[in-house]
Amino acid sequence: MTIMKFDATHAGIQEQIPAYQAEVSRIHRMIHEKTGAGSDFLGWVDWAERLDRDELQRMQQLAQQWKGKFDTLVVCGIGGSYLGARAAIEMIRGLYPETGPEVIFAGNTFSSTYMSQVLKHLQGRNVLLNVISKSGTTTETALAFRMLRRFMEETYGPEEARKRIFATTDKARGTLKELADREGYASFVIPDDIGGRYSVMTPVGLLPMALAGIDIQAAVQGYRDVSEDLNTDDLAANPAYQYAVCRRILDQKGYTAEMFVTYEPQLGMLAEWWKQLVGESEGKDGKGILPDSATFSTDLHSLGQFIQQGRKVLFETVLQVQEPGENLIIPSDADNGDNLNYLAGRDLHWVNQKAFEGTLAAHEQDGGVPNLVIEIPDFSAHTFGYLCGWFFLAAAMTCYLLGINPFNQPGVEIYKKNMFHLLGKPGYEK
Ligand code: PA5
Repeated sequence: MTIMKFDATHAGIQEQIPAYQAEVSRIHRMIHEKTGAGSDFLGWVDWAERLDRDELQRMQQLAQQWKGKFDTLVVCGIGGSYLGARAAIEMIRGLYPETGPEVIFAGNTFSSTYMSQVLKHLQGRNVLLNVISKSGTTTETALAFRMLRRFMEETYGPEEARKRIFATTDKARGTLKELADREGYASFVIPDDIGGRYSVMTPVGLLPMALAGIDIQAAVQGYRDVSEDLNTDDLAANPAYQYAVCRRILDQKGYTAEMFVTYEPQLGMLAEWWKQLVGESEGKDGKGILPDSATFSTDLHSLGQFIQQGRKVLFETVLQVQEPGENLIIPSDADNGDNLNYLAGRDLHWVNQKAFEGTLAAHEQDGGVPNLVIEIPDFSAHTFGYLCGWFFLAAAMTCYLLGINPFNQPGVEIYKKNMFHLLGKPGYEK
């Protein structure tokens, strides 16, 4: 039984969903038989069965070996080689974890200000470094890694630095693989048939998660469970496909933007991960829904006005968490100087829940904004693994419904060409 619930009743389109059954069945077969556009990158579909158990064990052993012996993990990567790990670590551990290492992200910007702040921050710390790049040539990541490697070698000496640097990259090719082999870094494989934004359940996401103290076996189990639960073309039984169909219906009704909303700050990076997943999968051939995100109630005090009364271009997808794990009871105050005693004894999650209900009604009924609601049980590693598979399937289904290859990103190369020319990179003279 699926642990994620999907509710389209606040979008007023649920009666239109069943009409897509035949189309969904056709695409479901295409996904599982790997016959659609970009089928070389459908490795994530049966990844739960194919996942290399030895590699999983190596990651767990490495994490165990270093447990309690370092205080800072630097994860160096960008895009699909960055967002999933960060989304997982922040969702599962929270933004201010009481245990485990601090996790810092680099290699995702050219900002010299940011990079020098990171290098200063690392002074005097006990650091491990995981560099992640499938191609091994991504400039943001490679440049940052050059500087971080220098820092590690100067701080720990070349021998010790080698033990503290881990490379996640292609199994055989690329500059990073060559460097890792030459230097003797422990290296982990990004499978050929899984693209960056679908790669979080490979060592791309699992190694940083393990080093951060997360139970990756539970995350993998979540991924395994969703792969089983959603291995059905029956729309009524497959909420990820229902979500994909709703996106298609709303797109056709002229909604050109989707606001991914959470009520939990520690899901902010999950929203960034989702944005890449749907935006890079779908935004091509002049098509696609613009993905945007907001954290409520924070952003109700900024974007709320536009959503309520601005131009009617967007629908919302709200990701709700049933059991946030930690809760606080609002204390009573003898003076009641702030007039909040009407909430005394209530818990803060209940207040957050009422904010959700009130906002849903305001946006849907008064604002005329369609709302889709997805519910996850908690912030656990199992739930994270589960929701990854859920959104992968939804993204692939939406793209195929739209007639788009979900797995390429030809547009991303254009800025690189211009930039390489301006940087004087050999081979990019014109
Ligand atoms: O989804 C993608 O393919 C991209 O976001 C890549 O993951 C990103 O550009 C990083 O590429 P690489 O892992 O080759 O450094």
